[in-house]
Amino acid sequence: MTAATRITVGEDYDVLVGRDLLAQVGGLVPPRAERALVVHPQTLGTYADLAQSALQDAGLEVHRAQVPDAESAKTIATAVDLWDRLGAAAFTRTDVLVAVGGGTVTDLVGFVAATWLRGVAVVQIPTTVLAMVDAAVGGKTGINTQAGKNLVGSFHPPHAVVCDLSTLETLPPDDVRAGLAEVVKGGFIADPRILELIESDPRACQDVRGPVLRELIERKIRVKARIVSEDLTEAWLRETLNYGHTLGHAIEQAEGYRLRHGEAISVGMVFAAELARAGGLIDAELVARHRTVLDSIGLPTADLWGSGVESRFAGLLEAMRRDKKSRGALLRFVVLDGLASVTRLEGPSEDLLRTAYRQVSTRP
Ligand code: GLY
Repeated sequence: MTAATRITVGEDYDVLVGRDLLAQVGGLVPPRAERALVVHPQTLGTYADLAQSALQDAGLEVHRAQVPDAESAKTIATAVDLWDRLGAAAFTRTDVLVAVGGGTVTDLVGFVAATWLRGVAVVQIPTTVLAMVDAAVGGKTGINTQAGKNLVGSFHPPHAVVCDLSTLETLPPDDVRAGLAEVVKGGFIADPRILELIESDPRACQDVRGPVLRELIERKIRVKARIVSEDLTEAWLRETLNYGHTLGHAIEQAEGYRLRHGEAISVGMVFAAELARAGGLIDAELVARHRTVLDSIGLPTADLWGSGVESRFAGLLEAMRRDKKSRGALLRFVVLDGLASVTRLEGPSEDLLRTAYRQVSTRP
């Protein structure tokens, strides 16, 4: 069996990547923890059982809570339910929460951990590609409110992250693909080797048992680890992880969140590339590479969900102006000025944005 890879985020915590790691969770909680609350969706009960056994073997008193695995459950009501359970079980500052699930679960449980007694430890066990390479690493936690997604939250780095690749074996292929959009993003903003690996064998990179996907996941986690250890609270460098997300978030919103996040940001990255080209920052070849790589793994490269280019553009522009990453009235985009070279485009004209949008609004 290949040993687990250990990626250290700053000097703070480790992300372990490997297979059959759930049995090791008992050794990854804070040494003084006496109680653990394992939170998971009903469908991931088997993985939660494995984590529970490992924690019990390590001498912890283990409690369990089920939460729905849906963005709609990432609410204050679900958080209240978890806080109540922590209160009933007399959880103290030295105890630990353990999240088993996708990004909605890791965000929610991270938020509950950040707020219980003003902050207790959380061990994140992401079970999707997206959560392994993005949501569970970096300490962003949050819940959704009427006003929008992730508007309430905090930065609360985990105690450890356990990426057990065996859990991907039950993930639908469309979710594997969508998670790869975040990996591709890592390739364009920081690690072009990611792009080469996908280009040389787009099918191998979707094989959840194979070495290529593992390498891609590890590379993207390293990209993120480097970025968040320099800039946890998103002063600037961390904002580069927002590549493709400004239009991506607007599309997600316009489609009522029925698209997978990765599908929306896939189109968002092509848009960001077109915007950079329209602004004279990159050439057509680098834009084409976005389309080729994303297309090769079956991700969308055009916004074909709306109807009527001009009215769609107007709606998306409005949503982009409301994006929480905006500063005041100024629209800003993370763009490339070369491969693995990121810059920021502030206050682009509406004409420039329309020119770029037109390039991603028709069938390629
Ligand atoms: N998902 C982007 C970030 O963690 O900053």
